[in-house]
Amino acid sequence: MFQRPRRLRQSAGLRRLVRETHLQLDDLIYPLFVMEGENQRVEVPSMPGIYRYSLDLLLEELSTVQELGLSAIALFPLIPDSQKNNQGRESYNPNGLIPRAIRAIKQTFPDLIVITDVALDPYSDQGHDGIVDENGKILNDETVAVLVKQALVQAEAGADLVAPSDMMDGRIGAIRKALDAAEHIQTGILAYSAKYASAYYGPFRDALDSAPKFGDKKTYQMDIANSREAIKEVALDRVEGADIIMVKPALAYLDIIARIKPYTYTPIAAYNVSGEYAMIKAAAQRGWVEEKTIVLETLTSIKRAGADLILTYFAKQVAQLGIKNS
Ligand code: PBG
Repeated sequence: MFQRPRRLRQSAGLRRLVRETHLQLDDLIYPLFVMEGENQRVEVPSMPGIYRYSLDLLLEELSTVQELGLSAIALFPLIPDSQKNNQGRESYNPNGLIPRAIRAIKQTFPDLIVITDVALDPYSDQGHDGIVDENGKILNDETVAVLVKQALVQAEAGADLVAPSDMMDGRIGAIRKALDAAEHIQTGILAYSAKYASAYYGPFRDALDSAPKFGDKKTYQMDIANSREAIKEVALDRVEGADIIMVKPALAYLDIIARIKPYTYTPIAAYNVSGEYAMIKAAAQRGWVEEKTIVLETLTSIKRAGADLILTYFAKQVAQLGIKNS
């Protein structure tokens, strides 16, 4: 035998020396749910360890998050039913929950990277990412006009990156153009480029009470069976001005991440979504899998597939393990 691959596996030191993939806190983005009110901290039933925070308690949580060494967060709002309508008008209220949250966060933690979601679903009484017409169709271009207003309000409030998650056609270009015209040339766009019509978003929709009131999201989110189409979506978002592109969900779509990698020099993010989090938590709570190891294995696999950044509800837990590199 001239080759004995086990030679390089015989000690922890040797294994570290030839390790190809490293998980770092710097690459993690922690998604957080924000709600109205004071002194509120409500656990999401299908996401143990994940809470919706009122703004005051969110700021407390962020001081812990920052001390733990995390440097980026993504914000999602729980909007009261009374403020929801088909046009998603609350999404571009300059004094709405998200712009207020951005301003408060930036005032207290100027170095924290704040990423905000651009889509109508938390603001829509229909639970859809776009405006719905009388026949139940999602109106693309009318929706893009609203998304542009939403992104502008978020940029104005101080978001570092706006993240359109709606999957309307042409929204990245329209948002880039509007941001530049308003002199927000430094506000970046993290585009949910290959976002699939997935059942893995269930717990997130519980958290935000944002499940579609009718039908599904298959006329705008991608068909789960498609892979070449992901390359097309990434290519479009790139030419339209995306700074970072994203694949979502992550685990059932590692092949998509790996396939996109050679096609773009743009950083690739992957969203380790709510359902992926819930599955691990549920199994770990029953003692069926070993949580810490499986979390690190899962996140490392997403990086190994080619993701540069990972949005994950496990970010704080990973930071608490004291891990810089695993
Ligand atoms: C909505 C949005 C969704 C997620 C992020 N932004 C859900 C959806 O498309 O229904 C899902 C995130 C998760 O499941 O963790 N535009």
